[in-house]
Amino acid sequence: MKAIVYSTPGDSSVLSLVDREIPEPGPGEVRVRIAVSGVNPTDWKARATVGRPLVADEVTPNQDGAGTVDAVGEGVESLAVGDRVWIYLAAHQRPTGTAAEYSVVPAARAVPLADGASFELGASLGVPAMTAHRALTVHEFGPSRLTPGALDGRFVLVQGGAGAVGHAAIQLAVWAGATVIATVSSAEKEKLARAAGAHHVLRYPDDALADAIRDLAPHGVDHVVEVAIAENAALDVEVVANHGSIGYYADNGGGTFTAAVRESFAKNVRWQGLLLYTVGEDSLLAAAEDVSAAVADGVLPVGESAGLPLTSFALDQTAAAHDAVETGETGKVLIRVTDADD
Ligand SMILES: NC(=O)c1ccc[n+]([C@@H]2O[C@H](COP(=O)([O-])OP(=O)(O)OC[C@H]3O[C@@H](n4cnc5c(N)ncnc54)[C@H](OP(=O)(O)O)[C@@H]3O)[C@@H](O)[C@H]2O)c1
Repeated sequence: MKAIVYSTPGDSSVLSLVDREIPEPGPGEVRVRIAVSGVNPTDWKARATVGRPLVADEVTPNQDGAGTVDAVGEGVESLAVGDRVWIYLAAHQRPTGTAAEYSVVPAARAVPLADGASFELGASLGVPAMTAHRALTVHEFGPSRLTPGALDGRFVLVQGGAGAVGHAAIQLAVWAGATVIATVSSAEKEKLARAAGAHHVLRYPDDALADAIRDLAPHGVDHVVEVAIAENAALDVEVVANHGSIGYYADNGGGTFTAAVRESFAKNVRWQGLLLYTVGEDSLLAAAEDVSAAVADGVLPVGESAGLPLTSFALDQTAAAHDAVETGETGKVLIRVTDADD
């Protein structure tokens, strides 16, 4: 099979296309013929982080993907050969990411993909949608699961509504019944956040942003989905409601944040960091189930008209795909790995 591998961390030139034996699934694993591999910031960051030992001599990158199960290991009953699946965290502490014609993953990491959902959509779900799910379910008195109506009557602020995680957060929050306010930095991104379903879209940076948010949500926003906590902590605590949660998942814009102590405790604010790799299996399984339900309901579309432009590369262009994500390509970067009918 064709696979992209690297043996030492570094810039994208460490990635090379090789021929390898098709791997066999072990007990509890499945082998997926990958149609589309999804690229996320974590993939280039993992590849570029010098000094962190690789899990094997040779590693295939990319956590997310979608394709068709073509072999199942001993003891796997949840999936069968021929099932269409979306994959998350394929390369976490494993060398078998999705930038290859076949990837072997634990059965729990391959989730049935609803009929009618494309492989492009499937490969766009993992990291972004699972992260968004977690950020929307950490409120002390909010739902731990997302379903239609779960966020009825609640305000959600999505910082960076045209990002991949931001896009999924808007779609999931709207599906769950919330009123969604998104922030973006340009007219083009405003169009995308609206296409994703945000009820209100505001531009940043803007000194009057807090006032504008309070006008829309006079009692404050209940949930903040935060990509740039170092830049936005002061604003977030200003607009968050009593008992509100600020779910932050990235260090875009800086690696340290300060927060107003009195406002934070007076509002019983929940500052909730989150990292998919360490969030725990229960949260991952809950997110995978709810995200699948949302896909089945048809509420997580991708593509420019849905607010998430897709940019596709061939497998032998994986380095360019990583670079596109690293340089901030708007929307979702995908790799077409094998021809497959959706
Ligand atoms: N903790 C986790 O488990 C986890 C999971 C997924 C992703 N992440 C991290 O989250 C980050 C985003 O991932 P992604 O895939 O969504 O990337 P992306 O598609 O590139 O989106 C990033 C978004 O953040 C926005 N942004 C940057 N600074 C902002 C600010 N001060 N206020 C509001 N928005 C701002 C950007 O908008 P502008 O360019 O217009 O500023 C862009 O839309 C990455 O650093 C990634 O590594 C972490």
